[in-house]
Amino acid sequence: MRAILCKTLGTVDALALEDLPSPSPGPDQVKIAVHACGLNFADTLIIQGKYQTKPEPPFSPGMEIAGEIMACGAEVATLRPGDRVMAVLSYGGFSEEVIAPASAVVALPAGMDFVTAAGFPVAYGTSHLALTHRARLQAGENLLVHGAGGGVGLTAVEIGKQLGATVIASAGGPDKLDVAAAHGADHLIDYTREDIRERVKDLGGADVVYDPVGGSAFDASLRCINWEGRILAIGFASGKIPQPPANILLVKNCAVIGLYWGAYLWRNPPLMHQSLSDLLDWYAQGRLRPHVSRTYPLEQAKTALEYLMARRSTGKLVLTMR
Ligand SMILES: NC(=O)c1ccc[n+]([C@@H]2O[C@H](COP(=O)([O-])OP(=O)(O)OC[C@H]3O[C@@H](n4cnc5c(N)ncnc54)[C@H](OP(=O)(O)O)[C@@H]3O)[C@@H](O)[C@H]2O)c1
Repeated sequence: MRAILCKTLGTVDALALEDLPSPSPGPDQVKIAVHACGLNFADTLIIQGKYQTKPEPPFSPGMEIAGEIMACGAEVATLRPGDRVMAVLSYGGFSEEVIAPASAVVALPAGMDFVTAAGFPVAYGTSHLALTHRARLQAGENLLVHGAGGGVGLTAVEIGKQLGATVIASAGGPDKLDVAAAHGADHLIDYTREDIRERVKDLGGADVVYDPVGGSAFDASLRCINWEGRILAIGFASGKIPQPPANILLVKNCAVIGLYWGAYLWRNPPLMHQSLSDLLDWYAQGRLRPHVSRTYPLEQAKTALEYLMARRSTGKLVLTMR
């Protein structure tokens, strides 16, 4: 089987397509024939050694896949060869075959294709647990979403609407904002031309902020957050990690709330499974419309990652294997 390997930490130039022996599942694991793998910003970090998970090279990047089960370990009772599934991985998805613990695998609903499924769990799962479990977003509240045309941002727009919030989308330029609008955003802010703080204040301030960007987006959030508001620290795509001043948190009675979605895999698997199950129900009911803007064959993983890093993508990018 073929896999893209990161052979030394650094740039995408250290990625190479290699032939590897087919892996075998352990007792509580399954082996999956991968049809597609979703790309994430975290893939660009893990190959540089800048992500919280730091595997030793050589390793394959890729944190979410969809495909068909080829074999199951002796202790796996709920899955069978031939099942169509998605799986969440620490890494390893840029590969034609993967081994995953059965606990990280979810069956696909009828009608969900592999490309859609591969780009689904990380972005929707992150936004769902962030907005429900962590920020307790309420119907009627104002939700400000930064990076609203990107992978996680766009799902926060959709889920915010499903939860009854008024969604204010912020992104860099009309193309990304058009996508956010098509996915339900009520108000659009092009931060390259408009002041986020002024626009959001004119709209009544933000009760919840979903921030996968950090840097100046986070600073603007602190300036337009409402009394008892919640700022979700989702990521730092800008490269700048915010240092929130406690005096502003105090006088505004607001909270900065962190979220590390992948950790629910081992810290609270039932919560993660329930969240994904709710999301797949919404998908089956037509309430979510996943946006995969581009697909690339496995051997073009480097081109796909470069496209993501150049901030040109909207929604998700997905690698295809078969
Ligand atoms: N906490 C968690 O559990 C969790 C889970 C998933 C993802 N994340 C994090 O969320 C962030 C976004 O991930 P993603 O997969 O959605 O990425 P993405 O699709 O590339 O979206 C990132 C967005 O950030 C904005 N951005 C601002 N400055 C940027 C810069 N210097 N470089 C790149 N993008 C920049 C871009 O929007 P504009 O061009 O409109 O500014 C872009 O659309 C990452 O930091 C990721 O690690 C965290």
